[in-house]
Amino acid sequence: MGKVHIANHPLIRHKVTKLRRAETESRKFRDLIREITILLAFEATADLATEPEKVQTPLAEADGFVLQERIGLVPVLRAGLGMVNGMWELMPQAEVWHIGLYRDERTLKPVEYYNKLPVAPTVQVVLILDPMLATGGSATATVDILKRWGAQRIKYMGIIGAPEGVRALSEAHPDVDIYLAALDDHLTPEPQKEGDPPAGFIVPGLGDAGDRQFGTG
Ligand code: PRP
Repeated sequence: MGKVHIANHPLIRHKVTKLRRAETESRKFRDLIREITILLAFEATADLATEPEKVQTPLAEADGFVLQERIGLVPVLRAGLGMVNGMWELMPQAEVWHIGLYRDERTLKPVEYYNKLPVAPTVQVVLILDPMLATGGSATATVDILKRWGAQRIKYMGIIGAPEGVRALSEAHPDVDIYLAALDDHLTPEPQKEGDPPAGFIVPGLGDAGDRQFGTG
């Protein structure tokens, strides 16, 4: 079973609270996604391998370290795009490979619409980026794609997860560690009457992370 890490850092909690607020406008929402991603990255990258490298300071030679593995970022379109810049600030050398999936509104099953992965894997560690882990269908499908590609080590970074999604992803892929800023309560059920929210939204959540980032809600 993969490990599930739920952040409890005060800065992350503070920023997630602002992110949830219905009045938070798109520009601020994007800033918060980027900032939370940077903070989450601290833990998600804690076990990356390093190798020693000598470095010359202005005074003397020092023992230093450099990252050993090639890292790939895999944002799930659209909402995962907002997490890329935060990661790139920390590791500008990371490759970015996009996967396009959308959830079929009726079945809630993921539908793949974009994938330009090269034939053979070019990285050793893959970090999947997607703010919302709802039913877990999109995350599971993304890991399926990456494993077929030949990725050896895969981690999932999200902002908000539902228990249903965490369970589905860890049952399907117990080797994938999950890093989240918050674990929420449940998913919305099938709407019963006019005005009910659509099924499969995280509660309390933050609404639709794609629409809120891109101003399309
Ligand atoms: C959202 C979200 C995840 C997915 C999570 O994307 O960004 O990719 O739903 O749901 P799941 O865990 O039930 O699969 P959406 O399909 O709304 O596409 P978008 O990012 O393009 O808006």
